[in-house]
Amino acid sequence: MRKVAIIGGGNVGATCAYQLASRDAADVAVYDIVEGVPAGKALDMTQVGPVFGFDARVTGSHEVDVIAGAEVVVVTAGFPRKPGMDRMDLLKKNADIARASGEAIRRYAPDSVVVTVTNPLDVMTWVVQQATGFEPSRVVGMAGVLDSARFATFIAMELGASAKDVRAMVLGGHGDSMVPLPRFSTVNGVPITELMPADRIASLSDRTRNGGAEIVKLLGTGSAFYAPGASAALMVEAILGDTRRLVPASAWTGGAYGLDGVYIGVPVQLGASGVHKIVELELSADEKAALERSAATVAQGIADVKALSA
Ligand code: LAC
Repeated sequence: MRKVAIIGGGNVGATCAYQLASRDAADVAVYDIVEGVPAGKALDMTQVGPVFGFDARVTGSHEVDVIAGAEVVVVTAGFPRKPGMDRMDLLKKNADIARASGEAIRRYAPDSVVVTVTNPLDVMTWVVQQATGFEPSRVVGMAGVLDSARFATFIAMELGASAKDVRAMVLGGHGDSMVPLPRFSTVNGVPITELMPADRIASLSDRTRNGGAEIVKLLGTGSAFYAPGASAALMVEAILGDTRRLVPASAWTGGAYGLDGVYIGVPVQLGASGVHKIVELELSADEKAALERSAATVAQGIADVKALSA
């Protein structure tokens, strides 16, 4: 069985591990600084094997070398924002964790492809890439799959359609500036612009932009984890299988879409080497402007991290 490692055994990391194991995609090693908890969750998950019928093994440890030799590493470690903590506090704390994660990956899984999940997503993907020293295409951030899944869910609910028939596309950074693309969102190939009025689309787009916050508010403590964990697992499977699935993901644009110097959500094809290809769509002037605004917020975040560590 192939090996995937997950750094951070909280709800998102554990959900991702469970999804991968239950689909027999790989053996999964979960690392977390907390002693006991990752091993306990791992043993519990492995015991589902005889119930639902899978052979994948999950191991958990507070020793980082548990990630050794993984083909794909998912970075979920980090703090959610707590009351009294401002954006810069969160940025600094999570940048330190992302940097340490990247250094561990460079040492123990030097041939891996990395999927980052830690927030603020696009900036942390850059921090991890810098710390690994990997080619930027071998480090990719998970946000677009999740944001698109949320948009697709709201479309299915609005139309009374099957979730299986809805494909949605959301680009840009993971945050208020994300860019839902109704033209490229369909019910089995039929663009939603043919199926509902513009004001309903605008309302579903807004709900998508606030999709994470809506769940944070309902939960009272913590943030979403089922769909984030599953979305990361989908990306891992595409990488393991070299399937070239086309998904929106946070990628180093390197000039694509006229953008450079940032990780940001764009359509990519995922393969064994990470981002196999960025797919450049012909965007309208409005869509392009929204993507540029979103990229500017990510660029500011990267500049802030640089200033913090200078
Ligand atoms: C969300 C957080 C986890 O969107 O980024 O739910």
